[in-house]
Order: sequence, then structure tokens, then C-alpha cells
Amino acid sequence: MVDFGAVSAIIFDLDGVLLSTDQYHYAAWKALADELEIPFCEKDNLAFRGVSRMDCMELLLSKRAELRLTEAEKVAYATKKNERYRSLLEGITPAFVAEEVRETLRVLKERGYRLAVGSSSKNSGFILKKTDLDGCFHAIVDGNDISRSKPDPEVFVKAAEALGVPPERCAVIEDAEAGLSAAVSGGMLPIAIGEAKGSHLARLSIEGLGELTQIFDRKMENKNGR
Ligand code: G6P
Ligand code: MG
Repeated sequence: MVDFGAVSAIIFDLDGVLLSTDQYHYAAWKALADELEIPFCEKDNLAFRGVSRMDCMELLLSKRAELRLTEAEKVAYATKKNERYRSLLEGITPAFVAEEVRETLRVLKERGYRLAVGSSSKNSGFILKKTDLDGCFHAIVDGNDISRSKPDPEVFVKAAEALGVPPERCAVIEDAEAGLSAAVSGGMLPIAIGEAKGSHLARLSIEGLGELTQIFDRKMENKNGR
């Protein structure tokens, strides 16, 4: 079992953890669901958290079994959802990220923790750049780097490899059940925040990212975290 004191790397999910882009995902899926006359609410959207775009498309369609779409149509609708999502993202600036988040990343980095983003989103690079978060991490692994989305641990395993830290020394911060499950399968320490708070899969739930500076308060002797 992963020990808090052994942690030398922290892998952050993006949407719903570092910033509230999860609301935009929901708004874009909701617009598509309305268009396809599929009932869809925020509770349904919980299962979409951490899950790849095309897997979300399948989840959405599973709510209206009689609607039979070809693969090309599914891709076209998922692309339309992404275009809506991207237009919502156009308005984000560095101010979209809470000061608590930036300060937490700064402090943890200064203490020598290795930091990564581990996200299923193919829009991660765009979001991190627009919000000026891209320089805050030692590694960024996203939907473009993986072939299996959460709950498969691939994204976190690749992030740990990129950081050069073994899984048993990595903590994962997640707002999704799928992400917590991925962390557990990957042999990492799962910490829940936001919508995933209180999940039985998490070793700990936190109210805000700022709490991490109390939990991970050691100075890393070896900056590589090995
Ligand atoms: C994150 C979000 C999911 C989203 C997935 C793919 O994991 O939590 O809700 O479906 O990324 O996002 P993308 O931006 O590539 O459509
Ligand atoms: Mg998330």
C-alpha cells in the first residue's frame, strides 16, 4: 500500500481538478444530448468524467438504444461536441485558475516534488497554454499520448514514467471515479477532490488543492524523486 510519506511525485487530473473546465464539458454534452433528444443531466455527466471523448459518445448513445448511428456519424457528433467545447474554452485566461492552485503547485515544486498532469483530454495542451499552467509541471501526459482512457491506468503509468518515479511513490489527484480507479490499478495513492469526494476508492478526500501543502510537507532530498 502506498504510504503518504513515501510520495515524491504528484499527478494531477486536469478538468475538474486544476480548473473548472468540467462545467464546459457538461454544457457541450448537454447541448448535443438535447439535439439528439437524449435525456442528460449533471448526475449522468459524472460517468463522463475522466473518460475519453469517443467513450463518452458511446455512453451518451447508450441512453437512447433505438438511435443507431454509423461510426462516421458518431465521430461527426463527437467533433461537434468538441467544437462547442472549444468555443467555450476560447474565453479562458490565466484568471480562470484559482490562486490557491498556482500557489500549491509552486510550493510543492519548490519542495522538490515531481509534478505531472495526467488527463484523458486531447485539449489539455490548449488549456494549459491558455491559462499559463504549462510551465508548472515536469511532465504532461494527455489524451493524445494514450490508447486507453481512464479507468485504465495508462495515462498515470506514462506520467510516472515521464517523471522517472515508481508508481508506489506517486499520488494522484482526481475528481472522477474513473480516475481514482485508474490510480488504484496503477498502484498509486488516490486522493479525491470535487465530485469524487468521499469515494470509497480514495485513500483521502480533500476540499481544496491547498490542503496538499500540508499533506506533502517534506523537502525532497533528491529532486528526481527516486
Ligand atoms: C477529461 C474529462 C472528460 C472528457 C475527456 C476527453 O478526462 O474529464 O469529461 O471526456 O477529458 O476530453 P476531450 O477534451 O479530449 O474531449
Ligand atoms: Mg477530471
